[in-house]
Amino acid sequence: MKKSLGKVLATAFLGTALLVSGCSSSQPATTTGSDALEETKELVIYSARNERFVQPLLDSFAEETGIEVKLLSAGESSVNRIMEEKNNVQADVFFSNDTGAMEYLRLEGLLQGNTSQALNIIDPMYRAEDGSWVGLSARTRVLMYNKDLISEEEIPKTLWELTDPKWAGEFMITRGGNSSMVAHIAALRAEWGDEKTKEWIEKVRGNAGAVVNGHGDVRRSVGAGEFKFGLVNNYYFHQQLSEDKDNNVGAIYPDQGADGMGAFVNAAGVALIKGAPNEANARKFIDWILEAEQQKFFAYESMEVPLNPAVEANPIAMRIDEYKVMDMPLQELGPVWVDVKKLIEEAGLDLDL
Ligand SMILES: [Fe+2]
Repeated sequence: MKKSLGKVLATAFLGTALLVSGCSSSQPATTTGSDALEETKELVIYSARNERFVQPLLDSFAEETGIEVKLLSAGESSVNRIMEEKNNVQADVFFSNDTGAMEYLRLEGLLQGNTSQALNIIDPMYRAEDGSWVGLSARTRVLMYNKDLISEEEIPKTLWELTDPKWAGEFMITRGGNSSMVAHIAALRAEWGDEKTKEWIEKVRGNAGAVVNGHGDVRRSVGAGEFKFGLVNNYYFHQQLSEDKDNNVGAIYPDQGADGMGAFVNAAGVALIKGAPNEANARKFIDWILEAEQQKFFAYESMEVPLNPAVEANPIAMRIDEYKVMDMPLQELGPVWVDVKKLIEEAGLDLDL
């Protein structure tokens, strides 16, 4: 029986989960391949991704295979829901915008491994070591700026520069609980450690001219000239460029210097849920979405960039091999993702407004 979403949301997310954290690799493999699995006619997908980037893909999978696909768009609460249903698994596949969240679920033992050859098309940096999740499209953190207010020469070239008092009141960030912000800070924490990350959050919070709910707010306000620049995912910059007005914007990929740590690239992708009621269909779906045509749709419509370099990218977006990327396999986000929200709050950046 399904539990109500209200109940799921009311459940403390990180409280008990941390203590029972175990490595899923200690679990025995339950299947030997999709041939041995029971055939069903359904596939249940939980998604944290914007529905308009998901539904058309699901429709074409349903049409090609005759499998009925059920989509639950649960946004940021998808992870809670999957945890809540641990002993009563409802979902087969999780569409996520964040590899930190997927790796966290894997470390909690809620995903299952996938040895399909189809995954090999994606760089190992962007998939789980057991194949339980795989990234499809890149979303890179950039500083988007208003060209009427600041030049490319003047704009900060590293994220640390945002702590400089000279930028007080000049830029925008989102609230701390925004999933892209959480993942980004998790990455900074893996790179810098707790103390330096907290210092960065405190100073950036103090300097920010505005803390807003989402990145759509940042891009519109920067585009309209309310602030000189803002921290966003690259596709928000591409979206603003495509607007009819307020589009005199640029973006820089930070930390590109010789000693720079590189820009943080997160990935959106898919995960295979342990105990999936329609496991054969889930495996079929993941193989299918890794085909070039689907990868292109997955990235193109959202103005992200395909992780598979052989897949055609949106021409206005920079490819991920054209700039320096933070040298950190995304699996490393899992262990630090767990209580990063706590660290963000302690450093004084509200999770919600
Ligand atoms: Fe987004």
